[in-house]
Amino acid sequence: MDEHTEHKPVLLDEVVELLRPVVESDNKIVLDCTLGLGGHASALLQASGMDAQYVGMDADVENVISAKRNLALFKQKGQVRFFHANFADVRDVLEEVGVEKVDAVLADLGFASNQMDDPQRGFSFMNDGPLDMRLDRDAPRTAMDIVNQVSEKELADLIYNFGDERFSRRIARAIVAQRKTKSIERTGELSEIIRSSMPAAVRRSRKGVHPATRTFQALRIAVNDELGVLDRLLDNLIDILNPGGRAGIISFHSLEDRRVKQKFSDLNAMNQAKVLTKKPITPTQREIDLNPRSRSAKLRGIEKL
Ligand SMILES: C[S@@+](CC[C@H](N)C(=O)[O-])C[C@H]1O[C@@H](n2cnc3c(N)ncnc32)[C@H](O)[C@@H]1O
Repeated sequence: MDEHTEHKPVLLDEVVELLRPVVESDNKIVLDCTLGLGGHASALLQASGMDAQYVGMDADVENVISAKRNLALFKQKGQVRFFHANFADVRDVLEEVGVEKVDAVLADLGFASNQMDDPQRGFSFMNDGPLDMRLDRDAPRTAMDIVNQVSEKELADLIYNFGDERFSRRIARAIVAQRKTKSIERTGELSEIIRSSMPAAVRRSRKGVHPATRTFQALRIAVNDELGVLDRLLDNLIDILNPGGRAGIISFHSLEDRRVKQKFSDLNAMNQAKVLTKKPITPTQREIDLNPRSRSAKLRGIEKL
């Protein structure tokens, strides 16, 4: 892996500490909903014994292939099973494995650095590429489809709701005006439309934050139905855990974290689980310095009663 695209697992020690009590016990099954490049997987496999079974999935087939390569040693020992799947369909994956419940669940939401840094994936306004943004390239709808097809109102609402962008209406208006002459196909084009739709004073006031940041986040959430699939995972979580089993979820923006926090607190109130993290675990300053992308990460954990 070259340095640019290397993905550094976020809150690695903290995840291992949270799940250690269960991964260290005998004959456990660990479910990794977001295998990525296998960074957390490798650490969790090392923390567990030879008898641990690891079930890993990722919506991005390329990351499944990379994880297979990075976890080859454990794969040889028959400890890991790999699935190209969305964690919304976690029950189908477990059915294929032939189990109903597992002892530990990890979900490290969002996307990995290799996806972000590849211009062909269209996630970044920093590198020009096709407006794609699909984590799963088999999914039917790209960011280009949304940007060129949905109504101005829908576009404004989406940018406001998923990007928390107060200039959503101006941005939607500028996008619709532009697409009347020519469809918008590249991240660079879209980023420039967003930039020039904003008042100069606002552009200056958002020091260090690119004007397209919030809109790109909103589109990514919409393309991948990120909140819908997270809700489906959260709805299944308690049923797929064995009693005493633990789950850890790392989120990267408040829309996700709010859902995780609410679900965990509901499970706690219903005596179905104990919340292990009264406050979310966040990266140390040292981790943020080493990996600025970790800065917004929040880890929450529960244990099933
Ligand atoms: C932050 S990365 C995970 C990195 C991983 N923990 C590691 O240490 O290498 C998130 C991964 O989750 C995947 N992903 C995102 N949403 C998903 C979903 N709904 N179902 C399955 N995988 C998903 C992405 O494709 C990406 O590979």
